[in-house]
Amino acid sequence: MIGFIVKKFIGSKNEREVKRLRPMVDQINQLEAELQKLPDEALRQKTAAWKEELSKIEDHEELARRLNEILPEAFAVVKNACRRLSGQEITVRGHPLKWEMVPFDVQLIGGYGLHSGRIAEMATGEGKTLVATLPVYLNALTGRGVHVVTVNDYLAARDGEWMGAVYKFLGLTVGCILHDQTPNTRREQYNCDITYGTNAEYGFDYLRDNGMATRKEDQVQRGHYFAIVDEVDSILIDEARVPLIISGPSMQTQDEQYGQFKPQVESLFHTQERLCNRFLSEAEELIGKLHPPDGANVENREAVEREAGRLLYRVKMGQPTSQGLMKILEVPENVKLMNQAELRLHADQKKVELYAEKEELFFAIDEKSHEADLTEKGRNYLSPKDPDAFMLPDLTVALHEIDVGPETDPRKRVEAKAKLQSEYQAKAQKIHAISQILKAYCLYQKDVQYVVQDNKVIIVDENTGRLMTGRRWSDGLHQAVEAKEGVAIERETQTLATITIQNYFRLYQKLAGMTGTAETEAGEFFDIYKLGVLVIPTNKPIARKDANDSVYKTKREKYNAVLNEIKTIHGQGRPILVGTISVEVSEHLSRLLKREGIVHSVLNAKYHEQEAEIVARAGQRGGVTIATNMAGRGTDIKLGPGVADIGGLHVIGTERHEARRIDRQLRGRCARQGDPGSSHFFIGLEDDLMRLFGSDRIVKYMERMGLEENQELEHPLLNRSIEQAQKRVEQHNFQIRKRTLEYDDVMNKQREVIYGFRNEIIHAADVRDRLMDIMEEVVIQKVEQFTTAEEDRNDWNIRALTEWLNLNFPLGMPDEEISKAADSGTETPVPGSIYDGLTPAQFAVCNFISTKVKEAYELKVSFENPEALKEVERYTILSAIDKLWQEHLYEMDSLRHSIGLRAHGQRDPLIEYKAEAFKIFEELMVNIKTEICHNIFRSASSLMAFENFLRNAPQKTTYTAPSAFGGSTAGADPNGVPKASDVVSEAAAAVERAKPVRSGPKVGRNDPCPCQSGRKYKHCCGK
Ligand SMILES: Nc1ncnc2c1ncn2[C@@H]1O[C@H](COP(=O)(O)OP(=O)(O)OP(=O)(O)O)[C@@H](O)[C@H]1O
Ligand SMILES: [Mg+2]
Repeated sequence: MIGFIVKKFIGSKNEREVKRLRPMVDQINQLEAELQKLPDEALRQKTAAWKEELSKIEDHEELARRLNEILPEAFAVVKNACRRLSGQEITVRGHPLKWEMVPFDVQLIGGYGLHSGRIAEMATGEGKTLVATLPVYLNALTGRGVHVVTVNDYLAARDGEWMGAVYKFLGLTVGCILHDQTPNTRREQYNCDITYGTNAEYGFDYLRDNGMATRKEDQVQRGHYFAIVDEVDSILIDEARVPLIISGPSMQTQDEQYGQFKPQVESLFHTQERLCNRFLSEAEELIGKLHPPDGANVENREAVEREAGRLLYRVKMGQPTSQGLMKILEVPENVKLMNQAELRLHADQKKVELYAEKEELFFAIDEKSHEADLTEKGRNYLSPKDPDAFMLPDLTVALHEIDVGPETDPRKRVEAKAKLQSEYQAKAQKIHAISQILKAYCLYQKDVQYVVQDNKVIIVDENTGRLMTGRRWSDGLHQAVEAKEGVAIERETQTLATITIQNYFRLYQKLAGMTGTAETEAGEFFDIYKLGVLVIPTNKPIARKDANDSVYKTKREKYNAVLNEIKTIHGQGRPILVGTISVEVSEHLSRLLKREGIVHSVLNAKYHEQEAEIVARAGQRGGVTIATNMAGRGTDIKLGPGVADIGGLHVIGTERHEARRIDRQLRGRCARQGDPGSSHFFIGLEDDLMRLFGSDRIVKYMERMGLEENQELEHPLLNRSIEQAQKRVEQHNFQIRKRTLEYDDVMNKQREVIYGFRNEIIHAADVRDRLMDIMEEVVIQKVEQFTTAEEDRNDWNIRALTEWLNLNFPLGMPDEEISKAADSGTETPVPGSIYDGLTPAQFAVCNFISTKVKEAYELKVSFENPEALKEVERYTILSAIDKLWQEHLYEMDSLRHSIGLRAHGQRDPLIEYKAEAFKIFEELMVNIKTEICHNIFRSASSLMAFENFLRNAPQKTTYTAPSAFGGSTAGADPNGVPKASDVVSEAAAAVERAKPVRSGPKVGRNDPCPCQSGRKYKHCCGK
């Protein structure tokens, strides 16, 4: 009831808003009528005049205000351009297409919704592609670049060419980012007034520009002003579950563990399978007792029921995908027994019985949360001699025990702690690997979640059925599945750069979206992206007839019913579109149809272009098309001649999707633009949605109706229960996405700092000053570390300080000089300066060292080619940032993982994560600066310059041990000086970088480096 009132309220608020926009629509139409009198050239003149005017406005608010002012006229100009184009033939994706669109009034309203930074919900087929041109034109006049985001390359190219007709007519430039373009081409596309492309291309370009490019000439994007996201739900919600990652092979891995534990875990899995089969037959026997053949009274009925339910639930925990269990659960009464057992076990606060139940198994799998846990029995099985080998100790307690233990030597205590920590980590990794392999066996089915092709495990996208070649499950899961399938276990990869889709799109000053289905996710859009939803009425009333859902006990019965319906409707000559949620189901249905001799097409969202063409023809008489739900999305289905008279396109859903919006999307494929059409969903109690989230109510209802074989059930009430189940999953998934984002927010702030730092270095004409500042900061930090504010100099560790200095700078600094400098100190640092807080003695030491370092650097400069040195300096800073940042990403990954393991206690893992992340980030910043100091004297722009410098550097450096260049450097000669040629070739290559190369999201050791240096990854950033 409350929901109804709220809906009513929102509904009417939306309606009021739409109504409020009426006068604006009238004004646009009036202006457009006047424009009709102008010659083409005069129309184009408007674009030029506005561009000229708007390019001068810098202030955001001023610009926004002015755009609102010219909106009616600009929209009128676009509408008028469409009118002038009408009847003309344009070429889209190689096919001729007659332009016959002039925006309807509702489309003008949609355009306004987008301009105002909202999501315009417009039903499928309402012409959103055209709607976008209105705000795109208006905002592109600012010259700041407008990005239109599509779900695949094909649509980006199609829409860029199709709508390009309008933009070009009006004198704007249009570009399109495609997967295989070179950086130069990309830059040209971004420099256009308007750019079309997919979210992945935009995101990866951002990562390459900010995380990898080392020169501004290598950057391709030019800012993030305004993005309009088409199919916004698909991109900002479905795709947003997986962050964009550019990765290369990892330096540290535990890959061998997966192969090593596989045989043990496999045998554990089979042992559990046998165990569960035993439980199942016990359960079957008990269930038999409940139905005595003579109909006699059952003794102890309740106890027998309880026991049977308990056994069924135990199997559900032990082997959730068991065929035998599915079979038993085809009888609704048995589902009820099991659900009651589950409720009973979870009702107990302490869950004593639940744990006892788990202990009957070797491991317990939670299908909902995707977790696998070894029980004591399982640990004994895997390691009979030492069951604790797979048991994590409580680290906090154990560490505390060392503190209060008999050991008093603080050094030994630290050692003991470190040992404990490393043992803990090793154990945690082992347990993790085992749990991942268990999941691979229990939850990941071949040909459903993944396929095996060419000795590789390829993920199948659960929403679209698309094969996601190149994408890998993280956290070792992919290796686990590879181990299970016996294919080569690929090296774990390391993240070189990453961003979530959410955080990428938050970069835009203004964001808008369009889709046929946003309303059900309005809460999430607002929470995460601050996007409101404006529901736009359709141009003509929707004539679609939606049948009630039909529910069946088993999949077999369900598919039979689907087949019968296809036969009937096909017999009438009406075209049919059958939607499935997986490739497997598509193929199964296709086999059934073949057997019946029904000609049909199958689409799996693998080949966007061909599929779009097939889908476009799905409205022809007698056509039958089976498609996973992403296949052909965004492609218009036009009805063939005469099809409207016999009822239009019929859409069949073979399962309800987890999210309501995906179902609505499927329904919307028919009855476009006021056409007739109908839809019908078929559901089985065995469908995942029903199994995992369906409520008892449905089962009860089915029992009451006493459902027979092949009998179906349909009732509006049932639709509601199913919708309830979907809402539960939507909520659940939203929570997961939100949580992920909370974690990513931490990374996001760090990324902003690092990318900001990188960009400052890339864009500065000269980084020498910055370099000197960094050296000064590091010197201060080291002086603070090795000296104290006390007068008494005995506490100063001058030896350590000079060792550090001599290790990093070619100074040959003796201890006495430091003491002398300290003695001379009289001045107190200026408050607020970076020296603030130092004593006069410390201040004097800092100044003394900094001066010496600067002198040494000036000496180096004098032997260098100034232009080349500039690049060397830039490169030195960037490579230090990149190397340590990538290590940091790895560390953050492990941190996230270990926090997950620690989450058992009372502490909120997110808070702990934030605290630790902050700490390691602070360390990172210090380490980067130290690394820069360490490297700067070791790089030179040419061999000669380097040798000249070495010869003239203070003599002591060449024989001080440790040397000025660090004794342990690889490639160093026995005296501790690196071979000049090594250093030089590294630096020279930085100067010489030229050839742009194509880079993909995943980089192999032998692939070209994604930083576009032209060298192999292993010789460049991957060193
Ligand atoms: N103003 C118009 N006048 C005539 N036809 C139009 C108009 N606007 C759009 N159309 C036609 O409507 C069809 C659907 O357009 P489009 O593909 O842009 O819809 P959509 O809203 O993006 O649908 P989907 O949700 O499936 O992506 C196209 O064939 C297009 O030519
Ligand atoms: Mg579209």
